[in-house]
Amino acid sequence: MTRFIVFANRKGGCGKTTTAVNVAHALAKKGNSVLVIDTDPQAHATISLGIVPGIRSADIFHLITGKSPLKDVIIKTHIDGVSLIPSSRYLLSFETEFSSQKEAATRLSKRLTKGIRRFNYLIFDPPPTAGLLTISTLAAAREVYVPMQMHFLNLEGLAEMVRMIYDVSAAWNPDLRLTGIIPTFFNKNTRIAKEITDDVIKHFGKESLFPGIRMNISLTEAPGHGKSIFEYAPGSAGALDYMELTDQIDAM
Ligand SMILES: Nc1ncnc2c1ncn2[C@@H]1O[C@H](COP(=O)(O)OP(=O)(O)OP(=O)(O)O)[C@@H](O)[C@H]1O
Ligand SMILES: [Mg+2]
Repeated sequence: MTRFIVFANRKGGCGKTTTAVNVAHALAKKGNSVLVIDTDPQAHATISLGIVPGIRSADIFHLITGKSPLKDVIIKTHIDGVSLIPSSRYLLSFETEFSSQKEAATRLSKRLTKGIRRFNYLIFDPPPTAGLLTISTLAAAREVYVPMQMHFLNLEGLAEMVRMIYDVSAAWNPDLRLTGIIPTFFNKNTRIAKEITDDVIKHFGKESLFPGIRMNISLTEAPGHGKSIFEYAPGSAGALDYMELTDQIDAM
């Protein structure tokens, strides 16, 4: 059975792409076959996997608009076991052209046909918005993980994700679940981190809190080299944290 995972949060810069790319590599290291689906016009997951956005004749935009079949948009990355559907700025025009069509949100899920069954994991990387592209990934996924910095103001963003999951689940995708919250830029010794962690446990239960990812400079540097943390700094705290997180996700 293929697992469909999205790391989503409307808040920008909370670690969605870093988590998508490094969990993908960690899952591949554990013997899984993984497809990363970059659904952000910023194409940060594409760049982080060492691919230049927009130079291919077919990418996520062509898939989602029906211009190219699935088999033409999946490419192998340099990482063994990790494939990618790349993104590019073309994708911006999908949001503008289609956002008035209610059923546009299901275009992505409908295009993920039997060609994806050979993957153990699909990992979506949505943009930092609550618009059509993020909704499309929620309509296609089963498990939502919310990477978030444990700050007071971010709780409203988490509440908004819960509402979005509820709405998408009611409209198109009853299988969708908020599976976990992943503390990012995490410093477990601060009082605020403890308070927010307690709050999350109170509202969502202990099982929803996944291992945190510490702030680690190697995680900031790796994408600039087109490398995952396991290639760029395999002994770093970032690599350790992402492997621990992945072990827990893979065990679900
Ligand atoms: N634990 C970490 N320690 C240090 N730097 C990190 C960490 N996690 C992410 N970063 C860096 O912080 C920035 C934002 O991270 P990332 O791109 O993963 O966030 P995002 O949620 O995908 O952003 P966007 O909302 O723009 O898509 C990047 O420069 C990334 O390299
Ligand atoms: Mg991102």
